[in-house]
Amino acid sequence: MIKKYTCGTPINTEAVIKTFQSEGLGSFPFEHTLTEDKFSFTFTMEPDDIVYGLGEAPRGINKRGWVYESYCSDDPFHTETKSSLYAAHNFILLAGGKNIGVFVDFPARVRWDIGYTRQDTCVVTLDGTDFDIYVITGEKPLDIIREFRAAIGKSYVPPKWAFGYQQSRWSYHNAEAVDSVIENYDKAGIPLDCVYLDIDYMDSYKDFTINDAAFPDFASYVEGKREQGIHLIPIIDAGVKKEDGYGVYEEGKAKGYFCKKADGSNFEAGVWPGVCAFPDFLDPEVRRWFGEKYKTLTDMGIDGFWNDMNEPALFYSVDGIEKALDKAAALKGENLDLSRFFNLKDTFMGLSNSQEDYSSIYHNIGGEQVNHQRVHNLYGANMTKAAGEYFEREFGKGKILMFSRASYIGAHRSSGIWFGDNHSWWSHILLNLKMLPSANMCGFLYCGADLGGFNENATRDLVLRFLALGVFTPLMRNHSALGTRDQEGYRFERPEDFRDVIQVRYRLIPYLYDTFVKASETDGMIFRPLSLDYPDDPVARECETQLMLGDECMIAPVYEQNASGRTVYLPEDMTFVKLSGERVEKQELKKGLHYVKVALNEVPLFIKKGKKIPLCKPAMRTRDLKWEEARG
Ligand code: GLC
Repeated sequence: MIKKYTCGTPINTEAVIKTFQSEGLGSFPFEHTLTEDKFSFTFTMEPDDIVYGLGEAPRGINKRGWVYESYCSDDPFHTETKSSLYAAHNFILLAGGKNIGVFVDFPARVRWDIGYTRQDTCVVTLDGTDFDIYVITGEKPLDIIREFRAAIGKSYVPPKWAFGYQQSRWSYHNAEAVDSVIENYDKAGIPLDCVYLDIDYMDSYKDFTINDAAFPDFASYVEGKREQGIHLIPIIDAGVKKEDGYGVYEEGKAKGYFCKKADGSNFEAGVWPGVCAFPDFLDPEVRRWFGEKYKTLTDMGIDGFWNDMNEPALFYSVDGIEKALDKAAALKGENLDLSRFFNLKDTFMGLSNSQEDYSSIYHNIGGEQVNHQRVHNLYGANMTKAAGEYFEREFGKGKILMFSRASYIGAHRSSGIWFGDNHSWWSHILLNLKMLPSANMCGFLYCGADLGGFNENATRDLVLRFLALGVFTPLMRNHSALGTRDQEGYRFERPEDFRDVIQVRYRLIPYLYDTFVKASETDGMIFRPLSLDYPDDPVARECETQLMLGDECMIAPVYEQNASGRTVYLPEDMTFVKLSGERVEKQELKKGLHYVKVALNEVPLFIKKGKKIPLCKPAMRTRDLKWEEARG
């Protein structure tokens, strides 16, 4: 059962699509405090209770013992000391003594102290007093999740080819670089469906433009790639370059479509192209306008996009950098002692994504000027909604691949997400695994991490182990940052090991796709923590390195360097399957702990008794897969 509690005049986030009768705070089931500018509520947790949720967030599947903040943040260091990542997914589920789900539908900052201050107490604090809170009760945790998901609407389903293997890098600077990626993958016999175009495909990082010198006759180039079975996926950034004569900027400026400052002038900040203006995605008219800009690229044959820098990421604001430069100029020739030097350093270090800048931005919501801080967590979600709404209008559902960096619940209906700028760290295999069920609970089914890790240099074994997790994630994309070691599969010794792992993905695509569609249609989860399926099993309850997948199986990737296998816990008797290229090795294992050996070119999978996983023959592209083989 879902009950909705409303306070003040909430901004309509469009997260929930079902209608519920609102109740006042009088009957709100938790202890709470309402002040002039904040609302907080508290509940206690029994020692064995588990708290799930928060979607894309740091730390474990069980969120207890830390303080999290829902505040979409452009932060490339996903260490365990962080409180926020790029998304704001305000759903939590307390499971144990009692089962209860809470969705805080409120687009400003929310702080979740889940046993950080007092280990038995959860305190949720909203930076504002206009909100809807939905409290969901049900017999079992999975019932609560399903009911919540039914309230927020069906998850986005991408085109089938989006389940193929995808290669990205910042950047493949020109057509030759893209061609060489495809050629090398083909030569190595490694399947591939997509190649990504990072910011350098644009002319001076201007959205909806093409760098003609790097990609001459782009439309025919795209068509040529499509004939080869390859989809090119360009990036779109939130900031629009401020440049006279650049159509998107000129038009946005003339129509008053950009975010404003208090004095009514455009808010301006530097991102990749230098100074940018920021479309006011909170305004439906602006969304329509921006969404239609994607036509420039769909007209050239593009059918997939990734939306980036939409928290929004701000390197510096024009006002902020002027102040900082003035400060530096005034100090020229001075003897900078400890405090003056660090103060100056902090001024420059604090320029990016500054709270002062976010507070200076205004949106137009139904004719009212609304401060950005009140709607911060909707900005990126609404950018993606702009695109999603256009794609659906123009092409129908599920025709265009779309995923975003920043997100809020509701965006799961029109796009997927990726988990942003992770690192080539072993610990990130696990961090990314843990986000999968949490994101699923919040509606985001099409998701995945940068396989191999984005920042820093990857090692061959890390990329292979990361890929062996990615074999199961709906988005299977290898992506890495500028200046880091190349990490395409063919770059390393024994590329056939990469082929073996990626071919396993292609063998599983019909199964993974059907599992995905079923999860979307039934408001289910693709990935579940073991604790949700085996709530009475004390080992399963604490297992955070394995996941249940669909109704049939369990995954348990190797996540440590120099390990020739791992310890795995089987909550029931299962068949241990090692997949590698077309090779399948099986071993029956009993419930309990086992050490299993997994070579670098193998993908481990555990299948429940009486269940079957269909496999088809691998192919170089998804379009060449024989789906009937797997289904028949
Ligand atoms: C951001 C994105 C990353 C991309 C880079 C350059 O850091 O998260 O994926 O490669 O920008 O566009």
